[in-house]
Amino acid sequence: MRLIWSFRSRAAVAALALSAALTVCAQPALKDAFEGVFLIGAALNEAQFTGRDTNAVALIKTHFNSVTAENVLKWQRIHPEPGVYEFELADKFVEFGVQNGMVIIGHTLVWHHQTPRWVFRNEDGSQVDRDTLLARMREHIHTVVGRYKGRIKGWDVVNEALDEDGRLRQTPWLRIIGDDYIAKAFEFAHEADPEAELYYNDFSLENKPKRDGAVALIKRLKAQGIPITGVGLQGHYTLNWPSKKQLAETIRAFSELGLKVMITELDVDVLPRADAHRGADLMVRYQHDPKLNPYTAGLPDSVQRKLAKRYADIFDVLVRHSDAVTRVTFWGVTDRDSWLNYWPMPGRTNHPLLFDRHYQPKPAFYAVLTSAEKAKKSANKTR
Ligand code: XIL
Repeated sequence: MRLIWSFRSRAAVAALALSAALTVCAQPALKDAFEGVFLIGAALNEAQFTGRDTNAVALIKTHFNSVTAENVLKWQRIHPEPGVYEFELADKFVEFGVQNGMVIIGHTLVWHHQTPRWVFRNEDGSQVDRDTLLARMREHIHTVVGRYKGRIKGWDVVNEALDEDGRLRQTPWLRIIGDDYIAKAFEFAHEADPEAELYYNDFSLENKPKRDGAVALIKRLKAQGIPITGVGLQGHYTLNWPSKKQLAETIRAFSELGLKVMITELDVDVLPRADAHRGADLMVRYQHDPKLNPYTAGLPDSVQRKLAKRYADIFDVLVRHSDAVTRVTFWGVTDRDSWLNYWPMPGRTNHPLLFDRHYQPKPAFYAVLTSAEKAKKSANKTR
């Protein structure tokens, strides 16, 4: 009896795997649909780039031609203690990208989050001075960028240096080094790998005050001859923010400065927010509230449709600006691994990506494919 059951359950598992594999094969691949338009990327977690999450790996290989490390290249993970580098996982991430012929993106070198306290402190606990912090920044950037030279194509050199009003954010980097910490970070990265593309990355640049601050910052950097290749709009969006107009204006504002523009962390939060906060600041955190977790049993059709329409609108803007937009990277592969399940509130069930918790494409996936077809048709017309 037990034998029969185990045979049956094994057969069931095999059937499931086969149907997952067939689904993967039956879908047109995103990266092919957008070939010649822009790269299609995904942020990868450990289970994915080590191969443990085999269903996700199948999706990644099929649909994406660029990968970003969701966490393993961040300072706290790769350089947790003074003089101690932990390269094992980062190496595996880079190896995954190389093996699959993907464009590999490094995230991130200088940020105020996910950076250990010791970076800003002397052994006695007092704050380090400017020269010490600059030396630490340089050593870190040279070590990490240098190790992956020629394999990591582009780096988010500085992440989130601006406040919502467009002024420089008060971070330990700014307080200790001064305004030129951003320029220094780019210079160090360029020294370490002169071929690498170097980006400034931030969220909510679609809001005018912050965007204006970023434009002014980049103009200052360019005037000083600092090597900056592009701007990353993180793209942590909601069902109604930003508007298509805001997104279009933002892309144009940066491309007019001669920069490449990428969407680096795209997702669309479908859950109600606890307050009016928009954006993606890790500092914002709320206690779990079941009232703000309405879709634990799945996304209702009406919201599923809204999400698909929202993705169609976003991609319509992106393909219309494909001369400026070089890459669109999703912050995760399936809804099951999105950070929006635990930020800004722990323990929720969010549905922000193109693939659901069972690795299946959602209506939003097909909406994005339709945008790609439209892009190809209009490209043919103008040819
Ligand atoms: C997030 C990761 O997705 C989480 O796993 C981690 O716990 C916190 O950081 N902006 C960024 C990313 O630039 O690095 C953040 O990633 C999401 C917001």
